[in-house]
Amino acid sequence: MRDPNLVAVVPKREAERLRRHLRQVGLLDSGRKIAARGATVLIPISRHPGNLSEFAAEIAEDEGLEERVARPTPFELIANAVAVEPGLKRFLPDKWEMIGDVLVLKLPRELDGCKVAVAEGYARVLGAKTVLQDVAGIAGDWRVPQVEKIWGGSTETVHLADGVRFKLDAAKVMFSSGNLPERMRMARISRPGETVVDMFSGIGYFAIPMAVHSRPERIYACEVNPVAFHYLEENARINRVEDLTPLLGDCRETAPEGVADRIIMGYLRAQGFLDKAMMVAGPEAVLHYHEACPNELIGTRPWSTVREAAEKAGRSIEQLQLRRLKSYAPGVSHIVLDARVSR
Ligand SMILES: C[S@@+](CC[C@H](N)C(=O)[O-])C[C@H]1O[C@@H](n2cnc3c(N)ncnc32)[C@H](O)[C@@H]1O
Repeated sequence: MRDPNLVAVVPKREAERLRRHLRQVGLLDSGRKIAARGATVLIPISRHPGNLSEFAAEIAEDEGLEERVARPTPFELIANAVAVEPGLKRFLPDKWEMIGDVLVLKLPRELDGCKVAVAEGYARVLGAKTVLQDVAGIAGDWRVPQVEKIWGGSTETVHLADGVRFKLDAAKVMFSSGNLPERMRMARISRPGETVVDMFSGIGYFAIPMAVHSRPERIYACEVNPVAFHYLEENARINRVEDLTPLLGDCRETAPEGVADRIIMGYLRAQGFLDKAMMVAGPEAVLHYHEACPNELIGTRPWSTVREAAEKAGRSIEQLQLRRLKSYAPGVSHIVLDARVSR
């Protein structure tokens, strides 16, 4: 049974070690605060822990420890702030995506009649200026988000991540905040002197962080959607990136050939572009090839796809690594394969 006044009295020098031990064995009472008393520290515990002589500690009763006030989670604050019938609160989503100060929500049909009140509650707690409803994910070759504005004003925003500012219109171009670890990896993978070709750069998801953090000699950034291209140029400007050449149009026509030390293919339908990638590669190049792959094929399909394209182009190829980035759909993963192609 929990004893509400039980404490371990421990000399200061042993306090941190004992606190960790108690937490590890599940006896630390997180409902009360730890307190210093002269040369000792009082650590609240929920049950008698047995002998603590190893820590020079004793067990005592003390009513003086301050209660810890449990802080409500953001979702609890939202559930309080949203002005809808109590019976509807169980339908409120406990996940959301913040792109800069634009909030994107997936709402179940049960909330159709009170979307504005719901959006306003989330916006007030999370500090969003605009709320979009994600109605059908991301669509088409240009990867356009299918969203409807349900609250607020402008959908243009600046999203800060890893020291980079991404300006975009969250209602018109996609932004996958879930790809941050891969963006951080790519940001630091290049070396001074390299020529990089990003065949599907979007607003500069990979190209801008790479230019900021690893400063290759030049990045050619291809993008076919004029709206995304506009933000690519804008993002180069606001992040003071000069070594980037934006190329508007289909990368099969715009990407320079025979130049790349590194090629980024951050597009889940990139398979049909591998022949072009082989032409873009210089004498030796590292390829970062993305794919949406059924889980049971992760170990085989991406590698055989890339290998076949290399062999067709008369190149030798070596697999460097394969990473699973995230779940894409049930049973399907977004992966990236790194491979080195050479003459
Ligand atoms: C999926 S987005 C980039 C996403 C980004 N890698 C991420 O993880 O957040 C891919 C971009 O490729 C662009 N794109 C599609 N086909 C293209 C092509 N043939 N040439 C150039 N860009 C293309 C789309 O317009 C889109 O902006």
